[in-house]
Amino acid sequence: MSGDPLLRLQDITRNFGAIEALRGISFEVQRGEVLALLGDNGAGKSTLVKIISGGLKPTSGSLYFDGRERNFTSPADAKAEGIETVYQDLSLCTNVDVVANFFMGREIVKRYFGIPVLQEAEMEAAVTRAMSNAGTRIPSLRTNVEYLSGGQRQAIELNRFVHWGGKLVLLDEPFAALGVEQTRRGLEMIRRIADQGIGVIIITHIMAQAFQVADRIVVIRQGLVAGNVARAKTSPDEVVRMITGEAQLGTAQETRPNGPAA
Ligand SMILES: Nc1ncnc2c1ncn2[C@@H]1O[C@H](COP(=O)(O)OP(=O)(O)OP(=O)(O)O)[C@@H](O)[C@H]1O
Ligand SMILES: [Mg+2]
Repeated sequence: MSGDPLLRLQDITRNFGAIEALRGISFEVQRGEVLALLGDNGAGKSTLVKIISGGLKPTSGSLYFDGRERNFTSPADAKAEGIETVYQDLSLCTNVDVVANFFMGREIVKRYFGIPVLQEAEMEAAVTRAMSNAGTRIPSLRTNVEYLSGGQRQAIELNRFVHWGGKLVLLDEPFAALGVEQTRRGLEMIRRIADQGIGVIIITHIMAQAFQVADRIVVIRQGLVAGNVARAKTSPDEVVRMITGEAQLGTAQETRPNGPAA
C-alpha cells in the first residue's frame, strides 16, 4: 500500500429536504482494503455509496480519491476515474457472450487491407487470463451471459472492472439474491480482487459476511460513524452494539476518521 489512502471522506453530509441522511461522515479506504459498511435500515449506507460513486452530491464535506479532491458530477464521471458500483447483473449485455461483454466498446480490431477484423482469439485469451487471475472459472467464455448465474455475472463484471484499471469497487448488498455457495465464491472473489490492490466497500446486513471478508468494519448509525474498527480487533457482539447504539452507553467510544485505534 502506498502512503495516502485511496479514498478519504471528510465530514460528508447529505440532506433530503428536512431529513439529514448523513450528518458528517469521515473515514478512509486504503488500496487493497476491504471495508464493510454496516448499519440498520435507513442509517445512510446507500446514500453514502451513491455519493462516492457520483450518483448524488453531498450537501457538504469533501471527498478525496486517488490523491486529489473530487466533485463527481455523475456515475460516468466517477467510473472514468476508476470507481465502479456493482449490483447484481447490472451492466452486462445478456445476448452476447462473456468475451464480448468484457471488450464491449474496447474491442481489439486489426485491419487487413482496410477491413476491420475482430481479434477474437486475442480477446478470449485476455479474458481467460483476467478471470483466472481472480480465481473465477466460467465453463465457456463463449456462452451468452443470459445463461450464466447471478454469481458468474458478478464475477465477470468485477473482473472486467479490474482488467480495465478500476481502483475502487462499491457493492451494495451484492449477495441478496445469491445462494450459499455462490455467496461464498463471491466473498472469495472480493478478497482476490482486493489482493490485487483494489479498494472494496461492501454493504451487507449479514454480520458473518462482514467478518469473513472485511479488513475493516465501519458502522453507520443515524447518519454518523458509530464505529470504525479493524476486523481483527473487534467481534460480532461489539459490532452489533455499535449498530444498535448500545456501545455508546457502555464505553462512550469516540469516533475518529480511522479510530478507535483499540
Ligand atoms: N431520495 C431521497 N429522498 C428523501 N429521503 C431519502 C432519499 N434517499 C434516502 N433518503 C433517506 O435517507 C436515509 C438514509 O437512507 P439510505 O437509503 O441511505 O439507508 P440505508 O442505510 O441504505 O438503509 P437500508 O439498509 O435499508 O438499505 C433514510 O431515512 C431515507 O429515507
Ligand atoms: Mg441501502
